[in-house]
Amino acid sequence: MDTKNENKDFRNTPEYAEYQREGFWASNDGKVMPFNTEPGALEDRAKEKLSEGGWLYASSNAGQSTTHLANRQAFFRHKIIPRMLVDTNKRDTKHEIWGHKTSAPIGFAPIGINKIYHALGELPVAQVAKELNLPYCLSTAGSTAIEDVGKANGAGTRFFQLYMPHDDELTISLLKRAVDSGFTACILTVDTWQLGWRHDDVNASNYAFYHGQGADLGLTDPVFQKRLKADGIDPKTMPNEAGAKWIDNVWHGRAHTWEKLPWLMKTWKELSGGKPFAIKGIQAVQDARKAVEMGVDGIVVSNHAGRQVDGAQGSLDALEKIVDAVGDKTYIMFDSGIRGASDVVKALCLGAQFVFVGRLWVWGLSIMGEHGVRHVMKSLLADLDIMFNVAGVQNVEQLIGNREWLESHPAGQTMIAERSRLPIMMNCILLADGSRVNVGDMIGNGMDGFIIRKGCHVLKIPHLYGNIHPDGTVEPCSENWLNVGRLEIEMQVYERLRGVPGVAECIECTSNGLLLQHYPNGSLRDYMAEHEPPPLHRRLNWVLQATDIIARCHEKGVLVFDIATWNFVLTDDIDLRIIDFSNSSLLPLSVEINRAEVDGSTVRVDLLHLSSVIYLIMSWQPFSVNCAMESEWPPIDQTPDLEGLECGQVIRNCWTRTHAGIQDMLVELRMCAKTSSSTGPFEQ
Ligand code: FNR
Repeated sequence: MDTKNENKDFRNTPEYAEYQREGFWASNDGKVMPFNTEPGALEDRAKEKLSEGGWLYASSNAGQSTTHLANRQAFFRHKIIPRMLVDTNKRDTKHEIWGHKTSAPIGFAPIGINKIYHALGELPVAQVAKELNLPYCLSTAGSTAIEDVGKANGAGTRFFQLYMPHDDELTISLLKRAVDSGFTACILTVDTWQLGWRHDDVNASNYAFYHGQGADLGLTDPVFQKRLKADGIDPKTMPNEAGAKWIDNVWHGRAHTWEKLPWLMKTWKELSGGKPFAIKGIQAVQDARKAVEMGVDGIVVSNHAGRQVDGAQGSLDALEKIVDAVGDKTYIMFDSGIRGASDVVKALCLGAQFVFVGRLWVWGLSIMGEHGVRHVMKSLLADLDIMFNVAGVQNVEQLIGNREWLESHPAGQTMIAERSRLPIMMNCILLADGSRVNVGDMIGNGMDGFIIRKGCHVLKIPHLYGNIHPDGTVEPCSENWLNVGRLEIEMQVYERLRGVPGVAECIECTSNGLLLQHYPNGSLRDYMAEHEPPPLHRRLNWVLQATDIIARCHEKGVLVFDIATWNFVLTDDIDLRIIDFSNSSLLPLSVEINRAEVDGSTVRVDLLHLSSVIYLIMSWQPFSVNCAMESEWPPIDQTPDLEGLECGQVIRNCWTRTHAGIQDMLVELRMCAKTSSSTGPFEQ
C-alpha cells in the first residue's frame, strides 16, 4: 500500500493499515513479524509458552464449554454486507467513551492475575493500552497494585473493574485507591460471585490465589492489611492463607442483590466526583431494564467469555435483544467471543457502542509479554482499519446500531463442539447412534467424508481424512477436526429446508457431525455400483426427483453446489433424498437465480451441476466431473460414449448446459414420465 497517501493527514487516527505493509515488507529487511495473530494459531502458541496452570486458567470455560461455543457461533449467523466505491480515504476508527477520545471502540477487558501469563503482570498491558490509546480495565483480581498500574497507564484512559467484597470498608478503600490512581469509571462485575465449575482447574488444583499468587490488590490495601492482622495472617510467612483470605473476599460465593446497588453507586459517585458507573455481565433483557431504571451509566453485555454459566446463550445474541430493549437509554458495551475486526463490526452494527476483548490480548501477553500484547492489539486495529477500507465504512458512527450492514440468519441452531475430536477407534468410527463404521466406508469421496450405511443413520462429517494403505486398509488421520465453519452453514441450510420433500432431515447436530435420518438403501452411487440399470422409467423418475429437489432448494434460497450422485441417497421406497449441502450457500430468499419452466410453472434449477447427475443416472456409467468448475467440464466428445443410448440425444442436449437446452429436456422428460409406464418410450 502507498505510504504517501496524503489523505491520512486528515484522519483522526493513525493509518493502522500500514502495519500490514510492515508485515509484507519485513523479509526484505531480514525481519519477521513476532507471530501469527490468527486466533487459532495464537492460542496454540500461547499454549506452548504457558505453564500448565497458566494455560488451563486462561483457556478453561464453565462446564462443557457450550457457552463459549455459543459465543463464537453467534457471530457466524450475521454476515457483513460490504459496500463498494465509497470514499474511505479519510476513514478513521476513532471513538469516544464517557468523554474519552480513543483510537477505536475497543478496550482491554479486565482479566485477573496477569502474572500467571507474564512475570510483569498487568504493567506491560497497561502501558500498551496507553500507547495505542485504547481504554484499559484493571481487574480486582489483578496481580499488581492499583497505584502501579495507574502509573504504567499514565495519561491513558483506565477503568476499574470491581468485584465487590461483603466488607464495605474494603470496597470503599479499593474504590478510593482507584480514584486516586486516575481510574475514571467503575465497572461492577455481577456474574461472578464465585467461579463457574471449570473441570480442568478443579482437577488440577489450579487456583493461583490459594498458592500464594495474585493477591496483590489486597496485600497493598490498608483495610485488607488490617483484616489480615486481625486474623493473625502474615503474608510473608503464610502466603497461601493470605491469598485465600483475599480471594475469598473477592469471589466470596455470597450474592449481592439489586438492593446493594444504590449504596455502591452513591459511594463511587461521591469518591470519584460523579464519574461513570457501569455493570458488567448482563445477559437478560429484564436485568438490563432494571439496571437502566437504577440509573447506571452503562451496561457491559458479557457472559465472562463463557466461563460462568454453562449452556447459556451467546453473548452476541443477548446483545441484540438488550439493544432492542434499552439501546437508546444507556451506553451499551459488549464482550465475549471477539476474535477479529469482523466480530467488532458485527457487534457495533447490532448496537454495541464499545467492545472489550479479553483472551486475544491474554494470548499475546503469554507469548511475548509487552511485544505480544502490542502485536495482537495493533494487528486488531490494522484489521479494523483495513476492514473499514475494504467494506466501505468511513467511521464508527456509521456502524453503531445500523443493522443494514448485516444479513442475519435466525438464532437457535443446535450447537457442535468447535474442535471436537472424532472418536476414532482403530479403523472404526463410533457413530452418534452408538454403532461403529469402518473408516473405509466413509472416505474415498474426496474431501468430504460422510457415511452412508444401509440400515443406519447417516452421519455427515465434513473433512474427514484418512490414509489408504497399499493393502487397502484405511487409517484415519490423527487430526480429524470438524470444520465448524462449513458445518455451521450446512446446519443453517438444513434448518431452512426443513420439511422440503426430497431433502434429508437433519435430526441432530452432534459433536461428531450432523446426524441425518435413517436411509435403509444407501447411496445412489452404491446402488449404481451394485445393480444393473433399472428400468428407464425409474431412472427418469429419479432425474425428475433430483430436478425437483434442487428447484425446491433454490426456491428456499439455498444454492446447491456439488450436486452429485453420491449426495443422493435412496430411501426404502427407492425415492431420492439429497443429503449433502456442505458446499452450498444461503441466499436471501429474494435472489434471482437460474430459472427453468417445468410443467408450465417456473422453477429454479442448477443447470451447471444437474447435468452431470442426469447424465450419470441415465447412462448408468461411472463418470466423474468436478462440479464446482464449469470451465473444467470435459467437452461432450470426451464423455463416455452416448451412442446407442436411447436417451443419448436428451443427455446431449442437457450437456450443452444452455438454459434453453435443459429447459427443453426437463419438459421432455416430464412428458415422458407422465406417459411412460414400465414400457414407456425410453424403456430399454
Ligand atoms: C476473564 N474475565 C474477567 N472479567 C472480570 O470482570 N474480571 C476478571 O478478573 C476477569 N478475569 C478473566 C480471566 C480470564 C482468563 C478470562 C478469559 C476472562 C472476563 C473478561 O473480562 C471478558 O468478559 C471476557 O474475557 C471477554 O471475552 P473474550 O474476549 O475473552 O472472548
